[in-house]
Amino acid sequence: MSKVQVMDHPLIQHKISYIRSEEVGSKEFREIVGEIASLMCYEATRDLKLEDVRIKTPICEMVGKQLSGKKLAVVPILRAGLGMVDGMLNMIPSAKVGHIGLYRDPETYEPVEYYCKLPSDCDEREVFVVDPMLATGGSCVAALQMLKDKGVKHMRFMCIIAAPEGVKRLQEAHPDVDIYIGALDDHLNEHKYIVPGLGDAGDRIFGTK
Ligand code: PRP
Ligand code: URA
Repeated sequence: MSKVQVMDHPLIQHKISYIRSEEVGSKEFREIVGEIASLMCYEATRDLKLEDVRIKTPICEMVGKQLSGKKLAVVPILRAGLGMVDGMLNMIPSAKVGHIGLYRDPETYEPVEYYCKLPSDCDEREVFVVDPMLATGGSCVAALQMLKDKGVKHMRFMCIIAAPEGVKRLQEAHPDVDIYIGALDDHLNEHKYIVPGLGDAGDRIFGTK
């Protein structure tokens, strides 16, 4: 079964509480989503492998550490996942970026696919799939399946707010994918929005409604 980690770092918790407020406008919302993504990326990359590297500093030679193992990729689920990309790249600047376009059908709440463009070597990379919201889990489950169909074997999923219903569905569908969550909320309402949540993440990032 996959690992589920709720990130309890005080800065992450503080920033999530801040953007939940309906008073926070798009500019600030976007900026803070990026900051949260950076902090979550820092935590979610703790187990990346290192190897020795010889370095000549201005003073002497030494053996330091550098990242080894698989190259990385970040794949946002459009649209809202785009808000996390720059924050991720601040931490892992050499990662390549793919895009998966999905929206939730307003009546069935099931995901509808409209775009997929991935790095050509994504099957050899460790892929961080990012989306601020995990509600029913439909979008995330579909996105991970699209990646598996393209040959991707190593994935992690990162979201800012999750509902227990989405976590359960995701774990059942993809037990091999570790899940990193900023805050685990209470439940979904009758419109499948996360309660208490923060509303519609895509609309708040892009100022649409
Ligand atoms: C939101 C969110 C997730 C999805 C979560 O996207 O960003 O992708 O809903 O819901 P689920 O877990 O029930 O699938 P939305 O469909 O609103 O599209 P958008 O990002 O373009 O606004
Ligand atoms: N998508 C969102 O943006 N917010 C929710 O609460 C659920 C799905």
